[in-house]
Amino acid sequence: MIKNMDMLKFIHLTDPHITGDDIPLYGHRPAARLRAAIDSINSEHHDADFVVITGDLTHHGDDAGYELFARELRRLAVPSHLLVGNHDDVRSFRFHFPDAQRCDCGFIQSSKRTPFGLCLFLDTSQQGSSIGHYCEQRRDWLEGVLKETSGPVMLFMHHPPFAIGIPDTDASRLQEAEMFWQILAPHHQRIRHLFVGHAHRILYGNWRGLSVSCMRGLNHQVALELTPSAKGQMGNFEPPAYGVVLVNEEQVMVHMHDFMNNSERFLF
Ligand SMILES: [Fe+2]
Repeated sequence: MIKNMDMLKFIHLTDPHITGDDIPLYGHRPAARLRAAIDSINSEHHDADFVVITGDLTHHGDDAGYELFARELRRLAVPSHLLVGNHDDVRSFRFHFPDAQRCDCGFIQSSKRTPFGLCLFLDTSQQGSSIGHYCEQRRDWLEGVLKETSGPVMLFMHHPPFAIGIPDTDASRLQEAEMFWQILAPHHQRIRHLFVGHAHRILYGNWRGLSVSCMRGLNHQVALELTPSAKGQMGNFEPPAYGVVLVNEEQVMVHMHDFMNNSERFLF
């Protein structure tokens, strides 16, 4: 898929959950999955403008996990933007990625101008909690950026502000969703898409009129169990995927790339 010059192309990858020393996680090796994703991007999508990874970079937030994550990421031939999720440890992340952009309030938040809109990378993590939060300081930053800028916006965050119908995932979604929405609402016509992680599922739809999408994690997925269970949240091993996103003035198009699918190709 070669990029049209009048188009922004980027990769949405999420929840790699790297473990230190590549210790298996639920019986699979997360670093091997990240390596396969990077091999795929380097060979098939090296013309992408950037890769965004929407959090849960490591599973335990430990130094060994970030060291391995950083080592694998150095093989990526495309610039990257990293978000943190509830499995990340912000202090350890900052140590291993000292150049990662932060907002003036110190959170892992930043903005990036593109020819087809402003990308806003948000930090919804709260240390020691699996639940998504967006505190007053972060809300002030977002409100300021939206007020000071004009034109199209694309949002990226780990925790979805919306419910997906899976009870345990919904319990850990962004808690301040209503206050978050109050900031977005005056600008909703500018906001072209909201990309999230955390759900470990392919999702697409809209939240209060904003189009949204999520990709599968790289190592493990959340099973489609819509009924509360005393056993807790079920996982499964549906194949990993990343998103190939094509943006121009008219549209935001998200392809789910099942990058480990080696099925036969044929000519129509
Ligand atoms: Fe995750």
